[in-house]
Amino acid sequence: MEVKTSLLDNMIGVGDMVLLEPLTEDSFIENLRNRFDHNEIYTYIGSVVISMNPYRSLPIFTPEKVEEYRNRNFYELSPHIYALADEAYRSLRDQDKDQCILITGESGAGKTEASKLVMSYVAAVCGKGQEVNKVKEQLLQSNPVLEAFGNAKTVRNDNSSRFGKYMDIEFDFKGDPVGGVISNYLLEKSRVVKQPRGERNFHIFYQLLSGASDDTLRKLKLDRDFSKYNYLSLDSANVNGLDDAANFRTVRNAMQIVGFMEDEVQSVLELVAAVLKLGNIEFKPESRSNGYDESRVKDKNDLKEMCELLGIEQSVLERAFSYRTVEAKLEKVSTTLNVSQAYYARDALAKNLYSRLFSWLVTRINESIKAQSKTRHKVMGVLDIYGFEIFEDNSFEQFIINYCNEKLQQIFIELTLREEQEEYIREDIEWTNIEYFNNAVICDLIENNQNGILAMLDEECLRPGTVTDITFLDKLNTVCAEHQHFESRLSKNSKFLTDHSLPHSCFRIQHYAGKVLYRVEGFMDKNNDLLYRDLSQAMYKANHKLIKQLFPEGNPAKVNLKRPPTAGFQFKHSVGTLMRNLQTKNPNYIRCVKPNDKKAPRIFTDSLVRHQVAYLGLMENVRVRRAGYAYRQAYEPCLERYKMLCKQTWPHWKGPTREGVEVLMADLQVSTEEFAYGNSKIFIRNPRTLFSLEEKRRGCLENLAALIQKIYRGWKCRTHFLLLKRSQVVVAAWYRRYAQQKKYTQIKSATIMVQSYSRGWKARKILRELKHQKRCEEAATTIAAYWHGTQARRELRRLKEEARNKHAVSVIWAGWQGTKARRELKRLKKEARRRHAVAVIWAYWLGLKVRREYRKFFRANAGRKIYSFIMQRLMQKYFLGLKRDLPSMSPIGGSWPTRPYRFLDTAHTELRSIFHHWRCKKYRSRFTDERKAVFEEKLQASEIFKDKKALYPSSVGQPFRGDYLEISKNPKYQKLSSAMDEKVLLADVVNKINRANGKGTARIFLLTKNNFVLADQKTGQVKASVPLPDLASISVSTQNDGFFALKLKEGSAGATKGDFLLSSEHLIEIITKLRRTGATAVNHDHLDIDISDEFLVQFKQDKVCVKFVQGAPKNGNGASCKRKNNRLLEVSVPSTA
Ligand SMILES: Nc1ncnc2c1ncn2[C@@H]1O[C@H](COP(=O)(O)OP(=O)(O)OP(=O)(O)O)[C@@H](O)[C@H]1O
Ligand SMILES: [Mg+2]
Repeated sequence: MEVKTSLLDNMIGVGDMVLLEPLTEDSFIENLRNRFDHNEIYTYIGSVVISMNPYRSLPIFTPEKVEEYRNRNFYELSPHIYALADEAYRSLRDQDKDQCILITGESGAGKTEASKLVMSYVAAVCGKGQEVNKVKEQLLQSNPVLEAFGNAKTVRNDNSSRFGKYMDIEFDFKGDPVGGVISNYLLEKSRVVKQPRGERNFHIFYQLLSGASDDTLRKLKLDRDFSKYNYLSLDSANVNGLDDAANFRTVRNAMQIVGFMEDEVQSVLELVAAVLKLGNIEFKPESRSNGYDESRVKDKNDLKEMCELLGIEQSVLERAFSYRTVEAKLEKVSTTLNVSQAYYARDALAKNLYSRLFSWLVTRINESIKAQSKTRHKVMGVLDIYGFEIFEDNSFEQFIINYCNEKLQQIFIELTLREEQEEYIREDIEWTNIEYFNNAVICDLIENNQNGILAMLDEECLRPGTVTDITFLDKLNTVCAEHQHFESRLSKNSKFLTDHSLPHSCFRIQHYAGKVLYRVEGFMDKNNDLLYRDLSQAMYKANHKLIKQLFPEGNPAKVNLKRPPTAGFQFKHSVGTLMRNLQTKNPNYIRCVKPNDKKAPRIFTDSLVRHQVAYLGLMENVRVRRAGYAYRQAYEPCLERYKMLCKQTWPHWKGPTREGVEVLMADLQVSTEEFAYGNSKIFIRNPRTLFSLEEKRRGCLENLAALIQKIYRGWKCRTHFLLLKRSQVVVAAWYRRYAQQKKYTQIKSATIMVQSYSRGWKARKILRELKHQKRCEEAATTIAAYWHGTQARRELRRLKEEARNKHAVSVIWAGWQGTKARRELKRLKKEARRRHAVAVIWAYWLGLKVRREYRKFFRANAGRKIYSFIMQRLMQKYFLGLKRDLPSMSPIGGSWPTRPYRFLDTAHTELRSIFHHWRCKKYRSRFTDERKAVFEEKLQASEIFKDKKALYPSSVGQPFRGDYLEISKNPKYQKLSSAMDEKVLLADVVNKINRANGKGTARIFLLTKNNFVLADQKTGQVKASVPLPDLASISVSTQNDGFFALKLKEGSAGATKGDFLLSSEHLIEIITKLRRTGATAVNHDHLDIDISDEFLVQFKQDKVCVKFVQGAPKNGNGASCKRKNNRLLEVSVPSTA
């Protein structure tokens, strides 16, 4: 929500002088001082802004401030120059009213700064865009250029504008700047040749000498030394706070932005240099025969350099300083110039040169900044003109300046009154005539065409005969004597005859702002502004583009015998144009006031301000403004501001705002003479009434504040209380919950305890029952398991028998297949050999043919070489092929690449055997000791049985496991195992053949290092334990059966029961192990192994022959033993075929 504020808020003193009560000069000045002390440099008189120069930078011109004042009503915020600029810009943009901003005040009061602030504000708030920004930048950058050439340090102001400036800024329908036009008024050109004590020439001279590069200075024939130039005063060449060198760069940059071409800048600087050179030209008298002195240039060096700079022929200029040609009708008369006339001519030339250069600059800038389109533009004019000047010694310039200010005051009064009157008419309020001082009479004294002072001056200048400043004063004394604002000692008005404050050579004018005494000396000269034609012709002849342009009257083809218009006439004319221009626009005033003479911050010199307040006519201004109604305000803000003073309007008024204000005023019982209702505003006659309203409002605001505080505090306490109450409920609820939770936890744990005891008791009971049940089930299972075990073993035996039979069949079948395959292989080999023989014979035949063909080309040893080469190649090929096709590293791998050439036969066979040995070695080197032992056993088995017993081939693939019964691990044989005090080398189940019936009984056969043991298979009871040395020999058949007889030495301890006839599935292993162990035990090389199909076995006293016969092939059953008679046991071995 936007907060509506007013000028009346937080005012220091009064922000608008119209509200000053009581209105006296003292209170006026006191108010200014009060505000100035609080850094409030702006104060209003209605819509006029009084600006006090702070002489220091205040933080009130920031971009934030621009935003604050943007689009706000004039009286809404505290007084500020931005408020005026905003008001002017908005009425230009929105109401299509051309505006002018008139800035007046004495030298150093801050006019130029104010004009720049207005321009920068407008630049900040108007539209943006590339084109618009360029225009803005050019308009703003015209200031540094004009200030460099038109400003100078004076005793009053370090940057005093020595010309008047009016700038029209043109805007398009959107309010965007499109261009501008600058008018300049009366440059103080006398400063070029002479400066009062403590002052300087125009800034550009010092800037050029300080800031230009050495190269530029050389080109301009200048030295970087102020003291070398007569036209530059030395006493204040350097000004504190002014950096001439930096400013020179700024100016050059600004010229570039404005649009000056490089050669134009150069020409301008050449002219500036030429003026400095001109000042150094000095003259000496030379006596002539006619008795008169004639001037001659003393030292021609400067003259020469100046002529070189401007492209002027030296002799022409030299002559122009010595002679003067006067043309009258058709006659030309040449007269000599004496030294003082020569100096006069030189200075006149310098002044003209510089002032014309300045005017050219303005024209050139105008060319750059002029609006491009021809359509009508809205215009905002900014007038920064020298203020009223009252010095001790006032001359022609002050007279002209003060005349201009009279004119401005006149238009100010006229426009203010007109505006006031227009507002009354607009608002339908009765107009009461206002008494005010009209300075038209003073303007008339100066500008009247018949007997005005300027007209008199011109008349005197044109009059033939001797005319001096004194004759001009005489004329005034006669013509203006009766005028009430003209005072002179020698006038016919006897009143001033004895006035000693009025010297004889002076006249005094009572300006609206005070009396000013003018010394007439120099009036005629300055008004004439005479430049000898010889000089202007010399300038025209210059070979310099710019100089030629500046002196068009020097063109001999356009000789004009008419005198050029006088300075006074020109000024009057331009002021007239300006006034007419201003009258067409809506005026906005900024009245600048200087707080002290010291250019220092925070000092407020009462007398100085009082003087300015007087001559600016500020009191007059307030009176005019207050003549009718002192204060006015639109109904809406008025009602908004004071509505709290009346119950009907507070807090909201529903009806039209005017009626609201009427109700309010009636309720407040304000006297009806004190205010009037306009169409859109209420007019308050007396500031007192406004202040009483303000007073009431302040009181009311305090009450409202207390009320708001009261309600707020009540609300805060209530909210706090409610919060406490809610919190208490929450805390209580939490506590109750906590207590209940605790109680519940205790009950719950007690219940669980009771429950657990009861459940434990129940569970133990069930467990007992279950254990009993399980034990019963387990007993049944064990019984079933034993039964199943017996069944399974029986089945296993049957299956083994069957498998053995099947195996025998497959061995016979494999043998037959092998025979068939070998026959086929033999046939294929024969065929291959035949084909190979054919290929070899063919190759030999080809070789022979080639050799026969090429023999003639080779020497005798070529054949040998070819032979050894071919051999090498063949060997190489052979070895590489061998390397690529090497067979597997398995020692039983039988493959070997075929021999490629017959001559390699032996080598090939040899290599095969070497390779085989080598891979066997590799294979062996990987053996562990256990593996080695196993292989040794296998080797021994082969030595014993290979090709001797038919069972042997089937045992080769079976590993020798030794302990088949795992005697030490199996709990069944625990007893047996513990009875053995040696390591068991072999444990297997064997069948012990009963001599009575030839049937076998299962026995456990154990072999240790020194004994072999036979034990009962079921009980593990040792039936026989025979030391190995008692073993004499072993007999086996040649056939594929597992029967073997262990024959004991006669007379040994074990031999009492006789030999053992046993059968085993692991016959080969048992016998091999028996032989190895037996050999070690008895410490002799071998145990006799008898392999034959018939051998004798000693059973107790009887010797029984065991005979092996081939039986028919039987499925599933192995060899069977039958007793034939007392002396013969026949073992029938099923045939394998
Ligand atoms: N608003 C301001 N803030 C800070 N300093 C200011 C302000 N206005 C003026 N000044 C100071 O006062 C000096 C004189 O101001 P300025 O040149 O505007 O005076 P002027 O009225 O144009 O004088 P003249 O008539 O001699 O040209 C400035 O150089 C600056 O130092
Ligand atoms: Mg100025």
